[in-house]
Amino acid sequence: MNLLSRLRKSSFQSLPSQKAYAQWAKSYPAEAHNVLMQVEQAILLDLMPSLQGKRVLDLGCGTGRWGKLALSNGAAVVIGLDNSLPMLRAGVLENIAQAEMTNLPLASNSLDVIICGLASGHLTPIAMQRAILEMGRVLKSGGVALISDFHPFQAWQGGQRTFTGDDGRTYAVEHYIHSYADYFDAGQAAGLTLDAVREPCHPKVQGGKIPLILALRFVK
Ligand SMILES: C[S@@+](CC[C@H](N)C(=O)[O-])C[C@H]1O[C@@H](n2cnc3c(N)ncnc32)[C@H](O)[C@@H]1O
Repeated sequence: MNLLSRLRKSSFQSLPSQKAYAQWAKSYPAEAHNVLMQVEQAILLDLMPSLQGKRVLDLGCGTGRWGKLALSNGAAVVIGLDNSLPMLRAGVLENIAQAEMTNLPLASNSLDVIICGLASGHLTPIAMQRAILEMGRVLKSGGVALISDFHPFQAWQGGQRTFTGDDGRTYAVEHYIHSYADYFDAGQAAGLTLDAVREPCHPKVQGGKIPLILALRFVK
């Protein structure tokens, strides 16, 4: 099944995030392995501040794609946090821990940059707000949080984020729609200022007319 058909209105059975990633971990490389991720990676790299010598958190790191990129871009320290042990174990990062995005086991004002790639859409609205409060707490003053999500236009149209389960069937991962306004408000409550927004399309997907990714940069 290609990305186009995945993004068309579909109604695959949705699995809770931890159940889904326990299965998906075996085939989830720490690189952009589909068009959605390629679009997301290009746009977040565009928004990325210099990581040279910085303390970086890869939040909802999965197998560590963003942590790996941060290290290759000069980060001094990279921490990976995720609530899925199978994803962490299948991953490439060394400095990792199992943790909920809503309750970070990190000191306040201790990080320069947070990269949260394609993970916040798995959180309920309340949990997403709580996660952004946590980002605001652990970032140093002047620190930057980069967040990417499956674009709400895709989800509103019935698009799902799917994978092939252990039984060979296609499943969706639980997803909650967070609008630009939702993120803006959550950032404000967390003491974070939204300073850049990008909504990239892909020319070969949906005629290049509907954004695939919502990418946000917040500064504390
Ligand atoms: C689409 S994957 C993205 C992984 C990685 N950030 C990347 O871009 O390659 C989403 C990740 O979010 C994690 N996740 C979902 N809900 C979470 C939560 N409440 N706390 C921590 N991690 C969570 C999942 O386990 C999964 O590894």
